[in-house]
Amino acid sequence: MLADKDRIFTNLYGFQDWGLKAAQARGDWDNTKDMIAKGQDAIIEEVKASGLRGRGGAGFPTGMKWSFMPKEAPKDHNGNPRPSFLVINADESEPGSCKDREIIRHDPHKLIEGALVAGFAMRARAAYIYIRGEYIREAETLFAAVAEAYDAGLLGKNAAGSGYDFDVFVHRGAGAYICGEETAMIESLEGKKGQPRLKPPFPAGAGLYGCPTTVNNVESIAVVPTIMRRGATWFSRFGRENNKGTKLFQISGHVEKPCVVEEAMSIPFRELIEKHCGGITGGWDNLLAVIPGGSSVPLVPAEQIMDCPMDFDGLKEVGSGLGTAAVIVMDKSTDIVRAISRISHFYKHESCGQCTPCREGTGWMWRVMERLRTGDADVEEIDLLFNVTKQVEGHTICALGDAAAWPIQGLIRHFRPEIERRIAANQGALQEAAE
Ligand SMILES: Cc1cc2nc3c(=O)[nH]c(=O)nc-3n(C[C@H](O)[C@H](O)[C@H](O)COP(=O)(O)O)c2cc1C
Ligand code: SF4
Repeated sequence: MLADKDRIFTNLYGFQDWGLKAAQARGDWDNTKDMIAKGQDAIIEEVKASGLRGRGGAGFPTGMKWSFMPKEAPKDHNGNPRPSFLVINADESEPGSCKDREIIRHDPHKLIEGALVAGFAMRARAAYIYIRGEYIREAETLFAAVAEAYDAGLLGKNAAGSGYDFDVFVHRGAGAYICGEETAMIESLEGKKGQPRLKPPFPAGAGLYGCPTTVNNVESIAVVPTIMRRGATWFSRFGRENNKGTKLFQISGHVEKPCVVEEAMSIPFRELIEKHCGGITGGWDNLLAVIPGGSSVPLVPAEQIMDCPMDFDGLKEVGSGLGTAAVIVMDKSTDIVRAISRISHFYKHESCGQCTPCREGTGWMWRVMERLRTGDADVEEIDLLFNVTKQVEGHTICALGDAAAWPIQGLIRHFRPEIERRIAANQGALQEAAE
């Protein structure tokens, strides 16, 4: 189990005050100026060496992402230099995901200090924190924490006495899951309809207001000051090769004590649940399946997840993914077909409607899923549905299409007998009624 001394988020549960004084007592904003004095390249190299991979779902190496930002400011058509921006993704709308919320409401200064250090490293003029519309109280805390940082001279001109000018703006979303996708987020920040656009150009080339931009998850940014203080070697001590660091896991569903907890990456599933959640309801024999990374990733049946290392590679090996590490545990009382059908409804509801396979496919898949749930279908439709998910997957502008396809693929792969049983039961009932 991760020792308390190795925890980055020391106020995750809000036992202490979130305000600046308390945050400083916990070590935040301690000599930030010296950290910045190391220079842009040194910070990027340290983050690269730490092995930090993006915590927003895709797991892209964070230091490498920052290195794509231009060192020389590109010029606009009048020959004036264009600014660069950091956008911090606090949209957190993936079902099961609730870790960024804990950072924002209980430890906001970790995020704000991280914004300054990361923003400086990528030569950004400002950071925009885009926060999920429903996070009303969290946004209030964030606004207040940013104001405190300005008042203390930690942001704005000569931020934290570093000689670097840096602003942080908080922007509230209006409640759309799709605005969590980075290009949709940029559109939304510009005041447009939040719809993804094709890449390239990537945001580092043309992002917010057409300027070089990097979009990073809240957790990815909030861990940076601690990595800089304690060193890349400390951070990379945790987890397996290619899966380094500590990580916030969010465990919900059929466990005795659902929680958000910081643990070492690669902790085996069984240990995570035993140590922090008091076990599975009804015991381990009662475990049916787990969605390990938020609703977008395929489920993993009990026998395959029990000893699986909870990291990017471990979950990939069992046909799923770490995603945001939102671990949804389902015991044998779960109607698994209904659960996946409900997820399908979510994606149908959240599709932005730009691409035909997603706009039409998500609704079509959900309607078939509903018939599979009640058994009112033919067995051949299982393969038909699987084929349709394959036509949606990889054929859309953004990954919402994949996110809608994968849970259904996981269900069919692992629970086909259960779907067939329902169809047979329904046909038997119909026949009985007819006789
Ligand atoms: C439909 C959709 C929703 C997303 N929602 C979020 C989100 O709520 N938070 C987040 O950090 N990333 C989300 N992402 C991923 C972002 O596009 C982006 O990859 C991420 O913010 C990059 O940060 P990272 O490199 O620090 O992980 C979403 C992606 C898609 C396709
Ligand atoms: S895949 Fe879906 S959500 Fe993404 S751009 Fe296309 S229609 Fe919109």
